[in-house]
Amino acid sequence: MKITHKKFYLNNHPLIKKDITILRDKKTNPEVFRAAVKRISLILAVEISKEYHLTKIDVETPLEKTTGYLLKQNVVLVPVLRAGLGMVSGFLEVIPDAKVGHIGLQRNEETLEPVEYYYKTPKDIHNARVILLDPMLATGGSSSEALKYLKKRGVKNCVFACLVAAPEGIKKIANDHPDVSIFCAALDKQLNERGYILPGLGDAGDRTFGTL
Ligand code: PRP
Ligand code: URA
Repeated sequence: MKITHKKFYLNNHPLIKKDITILRDKKTNPEVFRAAVKRISLILAVEISKEYHLTKIDVETPLEKTTGYLLKQNVVLVPVLRAGLGMVSGFLEVIPDAKVGHIGLQRNEETLEPVEYYYKTPKDIHNARVILLDPMLATGGSSSEALKYLKKRGVKNCVFACLVAAPEGIKKIANDHPDVSIFCAALDKQLNERGYILPGLGDAGDRTFGTL
């Protein structure tokens, strides 16, 4: 399937390729898995934030006055529970003053439709730059639903960061949310008949939290 979404950004950093290999390996244990998720998240956070606007401020060094900078807009990270939680610490390392909202969605393993169970986001999220975090973009049902919720809360400026994306999911986001950029660490082949990404890495939540 050809990727036609104009806002799809695949990060080809060599360190990401190395860490995605660690995630794919079925022998990788949860501790090593979480560490690799964190390192990839750090690189994605740097890439996503490079477009952020700044406000100039005065700052005094021990020697003289000069100009410094603050981020113009607040940042809110929104992990999709559970697996999105694994990406939070890497993003917070790069953007330490970001707020963190949570969206609880679980895919019904038969219908593959997302089922909602929890929402908690900051009151001022509508003014913020929002980064939706979910390692897996499979059918796109969960992330599309999460983006719909964020837009209902008035969010205008949102990007989606994931680790592994399937063409089917990218197509769904491009169709449902053409304004949302997708930043991704690996583009995979396709979904299998159970909606799992091939070659993928299996169930990201189970691999992160050791619930296999
Ligand atoms: C996984 C993953 C995404 C979703 C992707 O979560 O973290 O949220 O599946 O699939 P989709 O694109 O087809 O919607 P899951 O529903 O397994 O929940 P979990 O993180 O609690 O295990
Ligand atoms: N969710 C996962 O965790 N992995 C997949 O491959 C698809 C959905």
